[in-house]
Amino acid sequence: MVRVGIIGATGYTGMELARILLRHPAVRINYMTSRTWAGKRLGEALPHLGADQDLLLDKFDAGEATEKAEFFFVCLPHGQSMDAVGSLFERGAKVVDLSADFRLSDPSAYESWYGEHRRKGLLRKAVYGLPELNRERIRNSRLVANPGCYPTSVILGLAPLLEKGVIKRKGIIADSKSGVSGAGREPRQNLHFPEVDGNFSAYNIAGKHRHTGEMEQELSRLTGEEIHITFSPHLLPLSRGIFSTIYCLHEGKLDESTLGGLYTGRYAGEPFVRISAPGAPLPSLKDVRGTNLCIVAPRLDGRTGTLVVISCLDNLVKGAAGQAVQNMNLMTGHPETAGLTDLPLLP
Ligand SMILES: NC(=O)c1ccc[n+]([C@@H]2O[C@H](COP(=O)([O-])OP(=O)(O)OC[C@H]3O[C@@H](n4cnc5c(N)ncnc54)[C@H](OP(=O)(O)O)[C@@H]3O)[C@@H](O)[C@H]2O)c1
Repeated sequence: MVRVGIIGATGYTGMELARILLRHPAVRINYMTSRTWAGKRLGEALPHLGADQDLLLDKFDAGEATEKAEFFFVCLPHGQSMDAVGSLFERGAKVVDLSADFRLSDPSAYESWYGEHRRKGLLRKAVYGLPELNRERIRNSRLVANPGCYPTSVILGLAPLLEKGVIKRKGIIADSKSGVSGAGREPRQNLHFPEVDGNFSAYNIAGKHRHTGEMEQELSRLTGEEIHITFSPHLLPLSRGIFSTIYCLHEGKLDESTLGGLYTGRYAGEPFVRISAPGAPLPSLKDVRGTNLCIVAPRLDGRTGTLVVISCLDNLVKGAAGQAVQNMNLMTGHPETAGLTDLPLLP
């Protein structure tokens, strides 16, 4: 049994981790933190997980945490996470950080997107936790930076094209939409029901969204060249889901069946990436809701030579907690799919 702790357990990603881990065959949750709910039982703070859940929520204390558990998920806001991660890592624990604090390996890139980093020395130790790209490095790591939800969809959508060098490196566009839980549980006016319901809006477009840095870092690593992308995020009036539509121009000759083969070949054997090949139905968000799946649908607009790739996932599962458990499974030598076999909720 892996003895697990969840730091920031009452936020959206923390509670999704608890939902998954309470049914994981090789895990026991031994430690959970919250400032607001400290001293209360899990069943009081998160009754949807079962009113009889008796584990007491604590204020975070690294010494107590590492007495009770050896593997941690840190689910705090960026900027807050780095100190908790640092103190757990220094005490010998294995850690998956769900925030952005360890995703950018260059300290100056972190500072330009997020601000000061107080644990710069750990940045180079962290592995970017996208198993489909970095599986072996994740297995051997003690600190994994779980990717953002938008970047997971965009990187998985583009990786086969960039690895094979079949697209132009300039002019890549990712037009992405997110459900409201992507912004966390803290109430804010623009996330309030009357503002979101029946509405649709763009935000942080034209190089302003922080996830751009993370996507460019990983896509540049894949190609060995500097890649820049135009990323346009939007807010959908839904609680869960990321739906990215990616546009790029292909190099040379490419037909749809070669395109489909490129994706099915690249992701063959991947338990959590499903390909909708040309001719198959296009995916929708309800095909991934509640699952650790990312469904990728590559298509070719033969009239304009534009490739259109749809990539969709559940932001709280493959975009956060599910991917974090996938990483834990790799880091602890358990089957990669353990605890992650839920089917989608449709309708
Ligand atoms: N939501 C998503 O879809 C998603 C996807 C991928 C990654 N992420 C990342 O995962 C992390 C957690 O996201 P979330 O959506 O779960 O956020 P959230 O719903 O706002 O939850 C944050 C958690 O951290 C605690 N917290 C808040 N401020 C804190 C502070 N200053 N110091 C210590 N604890 C604090 C909160 O509980 P208390 O206030 O009770 O302590 C809560 O448990 C973030 O870094 C986010 O960017 C989120």
